Amino acid sequence: MSNYNNGKEIPSLHKLYQDYFHIGAAVNPMMLKSQQEIIKEHFSSITAENEMKFEALHPEEDRFTFENADKILSFAKENGKSVRGHTLVWHNQTSDWIFTDTNGKLVNRKTLLKRMEKHITTVMERYKGQIYSWDVVNEAVTDSGPTILRDSKWLSIIGDDFIDKAFEFAHQADPDAALFYNDYNESHPEKRDKIYKLVQGLVDRGVPIHGIGMQAHWNLTGPSYDEIREAIEKYASLGLKIQITEMDVSVFNFEDKRTHFTEPTEEMKAQQAERYQGFFKLFREYADVITSVTFWGATDEYTWLNNFPVQGRKNWPFVFDENHLPKISFWKIADF
Ligand code: GLA
Repeated sequence: MSNYNNGKEIPSLHKLYQDYFHIGAAVNPMMLKSQQEIIKEHFSSITAENEMKFEALHPEEDRFTFENADKILSFAKENGKSVRGHTLVWHNQTSDWIFTDTNGKLVNRKTLLKRMEKHITTVMERYKGQIYSWDVVNEAVTDSGPTILRDSKWLSIIGDDFIDKAFEFAHQADPDAALFYNDYNESHPEKRDKIYKLVQGLVDRGVPIHGIGMQAHWNLTGPSYDEIREAIEKYASLGLKIQITEMDVSVFNFEDKRTHFTEPTEEMKAQQAERYQGFFKLFREYADVITSVTFWGATDEYTWLNNFPVQGRKNWPFVFDENHLPKISFWKIADF
């Protein structure tokens, strides 16, 4: 890969940020082939996009499938990358068997806790010492409405303390891993306050939690820098670390129905670059609490935002373009 673009040397992003925080990318086996060079050059940390989720690792009670996750770990080892684990307890991409008995009836609290413990322990012990932080619980908080916790089988079968238990099992399995609660809309004031309350309760009860993951699925207009700053300060006031875990900056507002673009407009590129500059300026300011900034992908060649949430709409959310070349967004976060 050429390290020059238009005659200008392209610095390695993670090296530029080595005194601040990890620069990470979510990866999958396809990307480890097609985007291998860019991942090696610019990122110091990787996360499995799907390969460590419950349904990927544990399709049946007595069967674990570690092959794809193992490949990601081997890539990390061979290339000196750190690994963030994602994710142990979530309401999505979790196999149904864990909640039901052989007759299809929901299991009781005791059984589900046993199964949760076995899952967490088996996965974390396998990768012990190789994963610096784990998203132990993902997206347990509601976006709106009076309750803090989202309705899920974890909640209805185990009860409110399913989160406490997940962290306790995780800490037992790997006492050296930093344990995170991870969520989206994390800078939205209403949800931010709920996440804060949830985590404050954990901290008060002495549950072993070490950080809050801010997913950071953001766009050109929201959230505002002030909202992000307030979220960082509020979460950090609990004495916890923060990681930016799934960053992408969509060039569309969430429900923008326009699907005709085949490339981003100049205006979108310029606005995105300005946003990236503002976000990274904030991250650097809080480098004493932020330990990692992970993008949910690496280049615009592949993003889960293609077709989501609007079918037929392409997106270009990263700082490298579809040809893996640096965008203006890259230069705005590289020159500081
Ligand atoms: C959530 C999850 C991620 C991923 C993204 C979308 O944010 O935490 O694992 O599934 O949605 O791809």
